[in-house]
Amino acid sequence: MRSKIVAGNWKMNLTFAEAETLVDDILDLFDDQDEMNCEIIICPPLPYLELLTDYEFDEQQFNVGAQNCSAYDKGAYTGEVSAKILKSIDVDYCIVGHSERRKYFGETNEVLAEKINRLIENNMSPIYCVGEVLEEREAGRHFEVVKEQLEKGLFHLDGDAIYDTIIAYEPVWAIGTGKTATPEQAQEMHAFIRSMVKERYDEATADEIRILYGGSCNAQNATELFSQPDVDGGLIGGASIKANDFVSICQQASVIGKE
Ligand code: PGA
Repeated sequence: MRSKIVAGNWKMNLTFAEAETLVDDILDLFDDQDEMNCEIIICPPLPYLELLTDYEFDEQQFNVGAQNCSAYDKGAYTGEVSAKILKSIDVDYCIVGHSERRKYFGETNEVLAEKINRLIENNMSPIYCVGEVLEEREAGRHFEVVKEQLEKGLFHLDGDAIYDTIIAYEPVWAIGTGKTATPEQAQEMHAFIRSMVKERYDEATADEIRILYGGSCNAQNATELFSQPDVDGGLIGGASIKANDFVSICQQASVIGKE
């Protein structure tokens, strides 16, 4: 059975002092809980990655992820951070193709495919984001858009590499808007993505791969979303920088994971 994942995407929020307070608050809340039966990945801004990889987490196992990496391997690319650099400070995950990067930084499926290659070369797990904008959904094109993002950005990987990848379905109209996809809409798209993985690879891969939902997922709607058969957890933005909400979401994932 697939274990659930809760990934927190802090985006470009929090000063260092605020980040430290948030981590302390999260850990305090975890102290009162049994060990969570889900994987937790925290994706802070780059300068705070080591704050998290260095932290002494007692019972609770955390993983640390970056929010982006370079498509290049190394060299004269001022301002870029490579997968190799991330891996060298024990970062094992990296979000790739978040809609904010596609929109504000012009990242295409082709560039994203290169970023994924660099991560796989460095034994890291990409969290590859796909999702349609509102006009595409209203025009009934959402499956077509997601299919293209998968085919051009991810499906060049071979059968071994795809195992290390996590897919996140994030309808762009739901991100940061408070307008969450219904559990039915999420399930429908997740089932579609899983069927595409099966078609491109095989049934065992489709059964194994984790597909997260993202877009205004919060402490109020997590259980409903995570209970869908093809929803393996969430990529959480706004609610991941509120300690109580984030821990509640992890707890909900953990309860469903145990069922
Ligand atoms: P949100 O963001 O939870 O604030 O909608 C999710 C994301 O962008 O990953």
